[in-house]
Amino acid sequence: MLTPFRIFGFAGSLRKGSYNKALLRAAAELLPGYAELEIFDLEGMPLFNADLEQSPPATVREFKAGVRTADVLLIATPEYNYSIPGVLKNAIDWGSRPHGDNCFEDKPVDIMGASIGMIGTARAQYHLRQSCVFLNMHPVNRPEVMIPFAKDKIDKDGRLTDEQTRAKIKEPIDSLTAWAPGG
Ligand SMILES: Cc1cc2nc3c(=O)[nH]c(=O)nc-3n(C[C@H](O)[C@H](O)[C@H](O)COP(=O)(O)O)c2cc1C
Repeated sequence: MLTPFRIFGFAGSLRKGSYNKALLRAAAELLPGYAELEIFDLEGMPLFNADLEQSPPATVREFKAGVRTADVLLIATPEYNYSIPGVLKNAIDWGSRPHGDNCFEDKPVDIMGASIGMIGTARAQYHLRQSCVFLNMHPVNRPEVMIPFAKDKIDKDGRLTDEQTRAKIKEPIDSLTAWAPGG
C-alpha cells in the first residue's frame, strides 16, 4: 500500500470554539483519499526559552517531529492586533531552534485564516509569510484563504457550514496535495 500523503496542521488559537480550528477540521473532511491530516493542538506548549532549546520540552519535541515527518503543513491563523497570535509565533520560534535545526526547512505550507471581522486575517497572514521567507518554507501563493465574518459561517458545533467557504478551502488543499508523488 502507498504511504499516505501526510499533512500536519495547527491553528494559532487555543480556544475550544476556535473558528480557525474549525477550518482545520473542515480541511480534514475535504482531503483526497491518499492524504491524511494530523491536527496538532498548541495547548500546553511552554513559552520559548533559549536556555531550553538544546533539550526542549516534550510538546515541542512532538511538534517538531510532526512537522518533520509531514509532506506539507497547514496553518490556520487568527489575526490578533493586526498580526499572528503569540501562541503561533511561539510554536514557530521553538520549531526554528536551535540554530541549524529548523524543522520548517523546505516545507510547503498552506496558510488560511478566519476572523470575525471583514478583513479575514489578511494582515496576520502577510506577517506569517514574512517568517516563512526566513524559515525557507514554501507557502502556497494562490488562492489566499481569508475567511471574514466567520461567526456566520461556522455553526455552534464548530462545523464550517458555508458551502462557498468549504469550496474555497478545498482549492489550496488541492494545490498542496499536488506536491504528492503522482499528485
Ligand atoms: C487579542 C485579540 C486581538 C484581536 N485582533 C484582531 C485583529 O487585529 N483583526 C481581526 O480581524 N480580529 C481580531 N480579533 C478578533 C478575532 O478575529 C477573533 O477573536 C477570532 O475569533 C479569533 O480566532 P479563533 O476563533 O480561531 O480563536 C482579536 C481578538 C483577540 C482576542
